[in-house]
Amino acid sequence: MTGSPSDTWDHWRQQLSPMDYDARWRHMEAAGANPHGEADFVFSYGPRSVLDAGCGTGRVAIELARRGLDVVGTDLDQDMIDVARAKAPELTWVHADLSELDLANRFDAVVLAGNVVPYVAVNRRQAAVVSCARHLAPNGRLIAGFQLQEGWPSVADYDTWCENAGLALEARYATWDRHPFTDIGSYAVSVHRCGVSG
Ligand SMILES: C[S@@+](CC[C@H](N)C(=O)[O-])C[C@H]1O[C@@H](n2cnc3c(N)ncnc32)[C@H](O)[C@@H]1O
Repeated sequence: MTGSPSDTWDHWRQQLSPMDYDARWRHMEAAGANPHGEADFVFSYGPRSVLDAGCGTGRVAIELARRGLDVVGTDLDQDMIDVARAKAPELTWVHADLSELDLANRFDAVVLAGNVVPYVAVNRRQAAVVSCARHLAPNGRLIAGFQLQEGWPSVADYDTWCENAGLALEARYATWDRHPFTDIGSYAVSVHRCGVSG
């Protein structure tokens, strides 16, 4: 791996290889569960283009491309993105730190799926959110899902970073299939948008 997303991510990676991570989702599908809740959620907004930010092994981007959307995947972990590229060499994969991402494209949606926000290094989270916001097309949506736990960002932290990036909260759920969010929940799916008053 070149570059390091964060100590938290390094720790996680010591326990699971990119191939094993990827296999998890295939096993989930084989067991009859839906591994595409995030893609279903993003797709429901009708975007034509999506940036899969912190794409890992490409699960969300590849599924959205299969449904006909223009997608780009980006991740800081070279080994993760190599697996994504091997699975879908026809798609665009960019090895980059989200906090420094500078693509020419603008997207109808940018998705941070699967705890990307907490895995970004603490001192780069604000910049990563600003960078994601900068890659949105007018009226585009920033969609993020992450666990709420001790020592990880709270929804208030995340809302502040989004607000500083010029985005306002449009909706928040407890799950990718839109269960209502409550203050005592352990997961949040947040949808922020330019020019929407919260
Ligand atoms: C748990 S994985 C989620 C992968 C994928 N989104 C999914 O849902 O399957 C978190 C990802 O965030 C990436 N990440 C962490 N910090 C990053 C950063 N600063 N820039 C880009 N990617 C980052 C990690 O490399 C990792 O692939």
